[in-house]
Amino acid sequence: MKDVYLLDLINGISNALDYVSTAVTGHHRRVGIACATVAPTLGLSKTDAADLIMAALLHDIGAFSLNFSLDGLNFDADLTEHASMGFKLLEGHPLLNRSAYLVKYHHTPWRELLKNPDKVDKDILFFSNLLNLMDRVDVLSKIGTNIFSPHKLREIISGYSDTIYSERAIAAFMEASSKQEFWDRIEDTETPIRELLGETFGDQSIPEEQLLHFSRFFSHIIDFRSRHTATHSLGVAEMAVELARLAGMDAADQRRIRLAGNLHDIGKLAVPVTLLDKPAPLTHKEFETVQYHAHVCEQVLHSIPGMEDIAVWACQHHERLNGKGYPHGRRGSELSLGSRILAVADVYTAITEDRPYRDGMIPQEAKEVLTTLAKSGDLDQDIIHLLFENYENLDIIRSLVQARALDDFKRFRSH
Ligand SMILES: [Fe+2]
Ligand SMILES: [Fe+2]
Ligand SMILES: [Fe+2]
Repeated sequence: MKDVYLLDLINGISNALDYVSTAVTGHHRRVGIACATVAPTLGLSKTDAADLIMAALLHDIGAFSLNFSLDGLNFDADLTEHASMGFKLLEGHPLLNRSAYLVKYHHTPWRELLKNPDKVDKDILFFSNLLNLMDRVDVLSKIGTNIFSPHKLREIISGYSDTIYSERAIAAFMEASSKQEFWDRIEDTETPIRELLGETFGDQSIPEEQLLHFSRFFSHIIDFRSRHTATHSLGVAEMAVELARLAGMDAADQRRIRLAGNLHDIGKLAVPVTLLDKPAPLTHKEFETVQYHAHVCEQVLHSIPGMEDIAVWACQHHERLNGKGYPHGRRGSELSLGSRILAVADVYTAITEDRPYRDGMIPQEAKEVLTTLAKSGDLDQDIIHLLFENYENLDIIRSLVQARALDDFKRFRSH
């Protein structure tokens, strides 16, 4: 597999967050750039700068798991909840552990932070406060209900010294924002993030093991938005791996298909939770909104260098061999074995899961649906055949994986 770099991956995930609401378009990118622009004035090491920038690019990730609308910037209504939700999503990942704390505290006033409830190191407190400040700068200059000029903004921020923001954070912001370059960089939507941040960010390629861990962690962000999707991606990934093994794919391809399975519904971040939870079949218009997720998948995964092959498998899971699928209506030989396997794994997992308006199908019903879809030329007959030949075994594997995922989901939602 080609190398995938940490900055590209985090940036890809950050871009996916943008699709949730137009109210926040560009917010994570701008806060990331602002933090990266201030970092050199503080003489941060590359490791510290990377932790700060990763936290900035992902800082509102918890808001996307919550069942409230981001339109109209409701962040302010519920500051601590989305911060602690973000912490819960990020804390388990070894590369994101410090960033997780920065996210946790990104709305905690400095005077509160000084009590240091989690006994973390002092740098973490300071970086989270810096992130808090840069987040506020973006809200006040770009997306809030009242927009202020840089001059006015600097005046407002300086009034909060040592209450909400530390003196040091304010001084760093004042120094960086006194130069026009700071404001130009934040506004720059054209230059690739790697060019803007690469110097500051101590980048590294991600070992395959870590990448798998990342994709699993990210499948939680995708799935945990709704009880009805809570176990979907992991179920699809596991089924895809088993089918790939049965179809004779080698171990490396099996690992790649697990990655694709974990990420295949990344575009669902753009689908409102109300649709995922709707206790009735979707209207035509609503179905179109849901279909858009396959397009978002392409936008996000194809933007991560090194993930191109995985992106093809992942984002073609709604294409059908007879050309009746989406987003492109590709057909037959245009769809590789990996794409065909993911399509079967996705349908099989979806129909056996409970949905808000129906229970999961029992094996007999599921087999009938799959047989029909094989006959109509939607799904690959050979793969359906493999699935049927090994049905009991696959069904046990799927149930076990999904039961574990459901436990994780309950734990995630319970505290
Ligand atoms: Fe926030
Ligand atoms: Fe924010
Ligand atoms: Fe999907």
